[in-house]
Amino acid sequence: MTVRLNPSILSADFVNLQAEVERIASADLVHVDVMDNHFVPNLTFGPQMVGRLQAVSPIPLDVHLMISDADRWAPGYAELGAFSVTFHAEAAADVVATARALRERGARAGLAVKPGTPIEPYLELLPAFDQVLVMTVEPGFGGQSFMPETMPKLRALRAAVDAHGLDVWLQVDGGISLDTIGIAAEAGADTFVAGSAVYGRDDVAGAIDELRAAAAAHRHA
Ligand code: DX5
Ligand code: ZN
Repeated sequence: MTVRLNPSILSADFVNLQAEVERIASADLVHVDVMDNHFVPNLTFGPQMVGRLQAVSPIPLDVHLMISDADRWAPGYAELGAFSVTFHAEAAADVVATARALRERGARAGLAVKPGTPIEPYLELLPAFDQVLVMTVEPGFGGQSFMPETMPKLRALRAAVDAHGLDVWLQVDGGISLDTIGIAAEAGADTFVAGSAVYGRDDVAGAIDELRAAAAAHRHA
């Protein structure tokens, strides 16, 4: 199983984002948290900024939409050229139609669930998606504590993906650090978002290497 490490620029310096994405060139993807101050109580950036990041980033964009009315707005992020676009199940009326719209526009389609949202209703829809994001904190802010009670959802996803031989990446986001990444890896995650654990360190490349190694050491059997 390939381990992917996606630093979140939510913890980067927002007035120097070009330099901040260049610092993480050794990572797999750059995780871009789009927040609308409605779905979550925080505001970051929208399509104009994502389009500029797409133009200057040395690695592909993994866009995480924490916005309401995802059916309407998600496809536009795929049109900007994002490698993957992940929207929240709680914010979409028709998750399968929105996933299809993303794929038609050339992006990988991702489905995200908040800590309190059960995964069972979505297990049979997995073939419509290229990745599933299990939030390991309440979405909205960086620097929060990892919620281990979300791990049963990851185990259920890993079992369903493996049972059906699907190629669906399983992502975790929130509170991922050297202390917690192994817990998520053991439960079946293969794609790890880390904000403060990367940008909180002076040696961001070293942080990326160490986090990847820690995940690989605890890889799901
Ligand atoms: C939170 C965001 C995360 C955030 C993670 O809502 O979706 O991507 O940047 O930050 P850390 O890794 O600091 O918990
Ligand atoms: Zn995120």
